[in-house]
Amino acid sequence: MTQYGVYLLWVLILVSLGLSALAVLMSISRQRRHHSRAVPAASDDVVSEVASKVLREFEKNGQSVDAALVTWSPETLRKILAEDLPGAQVIVISNREPYIHNETKNGEVELVVPASGLVSALEPITRACAGTWIAYGGGSADRTVVDGDDRVQVPPGNPSYTLRRVWLTDEEYQGYYLGFANEGLWPLCHIAFTRPIFRESDWEAYEAVNRKFADTVVAEARNERPIVLVQDYHFALLPRMIRERLPEAIVITFWHIPWPNSEVFSICPWRERILDGLLGSSIIGFHTQFHANNFTESVDRFMESRIERADAAISYGGQMTLVHAYPISIEWPVELLNSLPSVEECRARTRERFGIAADAKLCIGVERLDYTKGILDRFHALDELFRRHPETIGKVVFLQIAAPSRGTLPAYKQLHDECQRYAAELNERYGNKTYRPVVLVAEHHAQKHVYELYRAADICLVTSLHDGMNLVAKEFVASRDDEQGVLILSTFAGASRELLEALIINPYDAAMTAEAMQQALTMDSDEQRERMRRMREIVRDNNVYRWAGSMLLDASRLRKRSDLDRATASPDRPTNINGDNVVSIVERRQAVGYR
Ligand code: G6P
Repeated sequence: MTQYGVYLLWVLILVSLGLSALAVLMSISRQRRHHSRAVPAASDDVVSEVASKVLREFEKNGQSVDAALVTWSPETLRKILAEDLPGAQVIVISNREPYIHNETKNGEVELVVPASGLVSALEPITRACAGTWIAYGGGSADRTVVDGDDRVQVPPGNPSYTLRRVWLTDEEYQGYYLGFANEGLWPLCHIAFTRPIFRESDWEAYEAVNRKFADTVVAEARNERPIVLVQDYHFALLPRMIRERLPEAIVITFWHIPWPNSEVFSICPWRERILDGLLGSSIIGFHTQFHANNFTESVDRFMESRIERADAAISYGGQMTLVHAYPISIEWPVELLNSLPSVEECRARTRERFGIAADAKLCIGVERLDYTKGILDRFHALDELFRRHPETIGKVVFLQIAAPSRGTLPAYKQLHDECQRYAAELNERYGNKTYRPVVLVAEHHAQKHVYELYRAADICLVTSLHDGMNLVAKEFVASRDDEQGVLILSTFAGASRELLEALIINPYDAAMTAEAMQQALTMDSDEQRERMRRMREIVRDNNVYRWAGSMLLDASRLRKRSDLDRATASPDRPTNINGDNVVSIVERRQAVGYR
């Protein structure tokens, strides 16, 4: 062969190698798209980094590749912490505590696990990380069970992490929690057409309580570099306060409720202070990209900042904050299911307990009694169902579990009364001595009982007028290992971005919801199975460990980046408030192809 011929041969070999590599890469990316459905793109790289690490381990043990890619577990979290964030202390902060100790009438101490999506999501994680959880101690016996440092080891009976309680005065609780958080920010962010109330005194209490929690974080931090997970709208000012006192901490703030568009947000008198507080975070998480975008728009409109849209980052006051979507979820598999009776038994027990005929179709709703959940709209839809399809009267029962919540606030009192009135009216109009179409139980139910109800139901109704995620939808799906049951889901709940096989409705449209109920009532078992199976796959793949794991991986990336900056910093180069070397950040961003 001539020299030219050899050269040509090499070119051909290289081109074909290149093409095969491209084909492999495309197939991997197709697979990743499949496996990472509904998981934020921004975190995908790190997620797949760990997935491949875990994958290698699984292969070594002869386990299946698929399981490795989709199974996120407490073990995966522990692995991330050990390998990617060695020695890091995880501190969680939320208003609501995961375990409440109350004193009963006969002077005994009873343990309550609150009805809160946030608690159900974070509890398994804090257990896996053996972290510290700081929360307001609101139980009547909370003070009696803590040690001298206000700490108690939980879960009771099988302790794996520390709960540190913070005490609030009545005035603080009134102003910070009932006032600013729940009469101001809650209606502001949910746009459920309940007018937000802003009082100067509430704002002052909110600021003071955020400072109290900041002091507690500093007191609980074992070193200068904890990973701090700040939860929700009760603590918008806390990230900045922590950043000022622990500049090397990684602060990940998760906003569990929607973020409105910038026009709606602009009515808040302290909008700049809130944004400034939140921008003290290293990462801010939302359930959906839509809410993350709304937040970025608000910052763009009201703050002197630089928005790096391609990188989902905001540069403000010399510090960078990532704004990502991390769809929250539930644990999978659900441990509780092991101790529950069969679906058949749950159906029988529930029907007996609430006096429901054995052959009646059971629709359930489970939530806190809150005006954002669309409970009245659900009653309205039932009314509409009976009018459009009178043959369903006598054959359908709607069981609504409504846990009392924020009951001293006028908006909640009014909702409570309206729900009672409407339920009585429907029972009067369509019921008789032996048939009550609406069973309204305004009581807290333990998770175990809630899961029993899910398993007993033919239909689960989630009709939120606006909701960050809504974990009831995911819990219902997780509870149905028989692959039966129909989920009717509001398009305004974040969960509707993932659970596409639910019957998606607009809760403001009673006729549409009624028709979805009729469709669910008449849906055959095969279709139920098909829809349920797909939704179960989604909840299994995107479980709560993946939610937390994605955030921890992003945190580890930031930590490694700032460690590198510190190591390569020179006195001639400017640094930002974290001590990160600004020039090297810019250089590295250019080197990896950012603008
Ligand atoms: C929502 C909030 C959570 C809160 C929960 C229960 O889901 O996002 O932060 O824990 O409601 O509300 P409560 O006011 O009773 O704690």
